[in-house]
Amino acid sequence: MFKKVNILDEKDERLRKISKDVVFPLSDKEKKLIDDAIKHLTYSQIEEYEKKYDLRPGMGLAFPQLGILKRVIIIVHEYEKGKFNNYVFVNPKIVSNSTEMIAAEAGEGCLSVNREVEGHILRYARVTVEGFDPDGNKISIRAREDLSIAFQHEIDHLNGILFYDRIDKDKPFYSEMEIRLI
Ligand code: NI
Repeated sequence: MFKKVNILDEKDERLRKISKDVVFPLSDKEKKLIDDAIKHLTYSQIEEYEKKYDLRPGMGLAFPQLGILKRVIIIVHEYEKGKFNNYVFVNPKIVSNSTEMIAAEAGEGCLSVNREVEGHILRYARVTVEGFDPDGNKISIRAREDLSIAFQHEIDHLNGILFYDRIDKDKPFYSEMEIRLI
């Protein structure tokens, strides 16, 4: 049976803490939480289940949002209509980035932020992220476009940063001339 994961709201102080590096092995409970989060994120992006279970659509979660201050991120990326790739990175690190910046045209959302926040957030168009899978094997990815934004957004959570912290108060919006909006 499907059970939603409990996601902390932005007002919760734990979202502002720096999460700790994971020391392997992960506990069975933590592995189960990863699986539950993947299912939650996948269902939230499928209309039928989104409605049935009253989910807010989202593509990523970080452990601190689930109340665990450890460096784990989970991304479920719909790369083609109805097709998903799962990415679980433990102790993720951005090891290189493009000089090109992008921003999500519609702004970003977060499952911990239950309101609309308008504004563009500058992100690297491409990042290389290294880390470990849940079993402790080394992994890396070169992420582009929306997936690159997702990695940067989720890694921010591990450092106590919420997406709107990065919106420039004096200039919340960019034009297509200034930055590539995706
Ligand atoms: Ni978020």
